[in-house]
Amino acid sequence: MSKSAKVLITRKIPINAIQQIQEVAETEIWPEQLPPPREYLEEKIRDCAGIVSLLTDSIDEKLMACAKDLRVISNFAVGVNNIDIQAATARGIAVGNTPGVLTQATADIAVSLLLAVARRLHESALDAASGNWKTWEPLGWLGQELEGKTVGIVGMGRIGFATAKRLHFGWDMPIIYHSRSTNAEAEQKLQARKVDMDTLLQTSDFISIHTDLNPQTRGMFTIKEFEKMKPSAILINTSRGPVLNQTDLAKALRLGLLFAAGLDVTDPEPLPPSHELYSLKNCLIVPHIASATFATRNEMARICAENLIAGISNKPLRFTVNPECIRKQN
Ligand code: DGY
Repeated sequence: MSKSAKVLITRKIPINAIQQIQEVAETEIWPEQLPPPREYLEEKIRDCAGIVSLLTDSIDEKLMACAKDLRVISNFAVGVNNIDIQAATARGIAVGNTPGVLTQATADIAVSLLLAVARRLHESALDAASGNWKTWEPLGWLGQELEGKTVGIVGMGRIGFATAKRLHFGWDMPIIYHSRSTNAEAEQKLQARKVDMDTLLQTSDFISIHTDLNPQTRGMFTIKEFEKMKPSAILINTSRGPVLNQTDLAKALRLGLLFAAGLDVTDPEPLPPSHELYSLKNCLIVPHIASATFATRNEMARICAENLIAGISNKPLRFTVNPECIRKQN
């Protein structure tokens, strides 16, 4: 690899990664807060050997077709639903992601959201600040306790496991889960029990979604699923917004089909402030911050740079979602 390899980084990311990449490649960084426009990407990708993309950049077939010698797409995320993986593989472009390093931070946010909505923190804090705190109220701001409640994990991968572990050992919660495959570690260490979706919906006091977004999970939660949940149940989503139907969720929360929801992810992102979900007291939305800690973002950046540098050097990536991809030599 020569230093003449060109790389595009679609946003400012932690400096450690930028420096690593600059050492080996001619690097351009999109400097704005908002994602680069499509035309910019189409023009810049033309001569790039590698791109560092964010989950807000749509890297589709048409964009890849603009590139003359793109070898690697290094996504600054573990989720890769913003990239057409099939198209990348067909073109011999390696796709990298950052698994593992954001597991603990994401599980922390899942638990934080659960605690916040179970005990109505956001709603009561707003009431305090706006003068609606008139006195100590015996019947005011009543919430749900966590101890011993059953938690249902949808998608028992790394993050699902880390969330379940916190809840099992922290609050003695029995764990049930619904997942493509059996998680032996969860069954052994947390006594987790794999169940069908209906059992999970009907039995869980709290449901936490950790699945990736794919054709099977898109729209997985609709009014039909909310109707099966306990009226006291809480739903947490830190995976991807389109896993649930937000119109149906708003209706279910309004009707009291479930107690509350905590969302780190929405569809679209950002969710416009006029959206009905913001007006519901039993819904707390935070702006996709699950991995937003100094340590995690630095680690994501480090892996991202490592993947990028391997890819432009035609070497195997440390973390890739298409290991079957065979590099086409020009
Ligand atoms: C990811 O990496 O996919 C996360 O959603 C970022 O927080």
